[in-house]
Amino acid sequence: MNKKLTTAILSLTLTTTLLAAENGASLYKKCAGCHGTKGEKAALGKSKIIKDFKKGQFISALKGYKAGTYGGAQKVVMQGQVKNLSDAQISAIASFIAK
Ligand code: HEC
Repeated sequence: MNKKLTTAILSLTLTTTLLAAENGASLYKKCAGCHGTKGEKAALGKSKIIKDFKKGQFISALKGYKAGTYGGAQKVVMQGQVKNLSDAQISAIASFIAK
């Protein structure tokens, strides 16, 4: 592979990573009111502390809320939060807030 192409691919990868991080941060804004700016709060006194979630666990929880297969007594609250999120957006949020 020539140098120019390698550089172009590297900077493209970097830009994509940065954009995903940025996107995750802005998508998370609407979650912060309940979960805390770093995911450190028990939302409405009920949820688990989401900053302690592993990325995969976080993604399956959100997809589960979307599919109606995950959650506790307050799951309706979360179903409303995630119903319009795409898989890519869910991953971006996971990269921002989960471990
Ligand atoms: C109105 C308050 C509120 C907002 C806003 C909110 N959540 Fe939640 N979240 C909750 C509650 C309450 C639960 C626990 C629901 C249950 O009983 O399953 C929860 C659960 C979760 C869980 C699983 C934790 C567990 O207890 O198993 C994750 C992950 C999560 N929320 C992520 C998010 C993300 C990401 C957003 C933003 C897109 C968000 N939440 C927005 C209230 C909120």
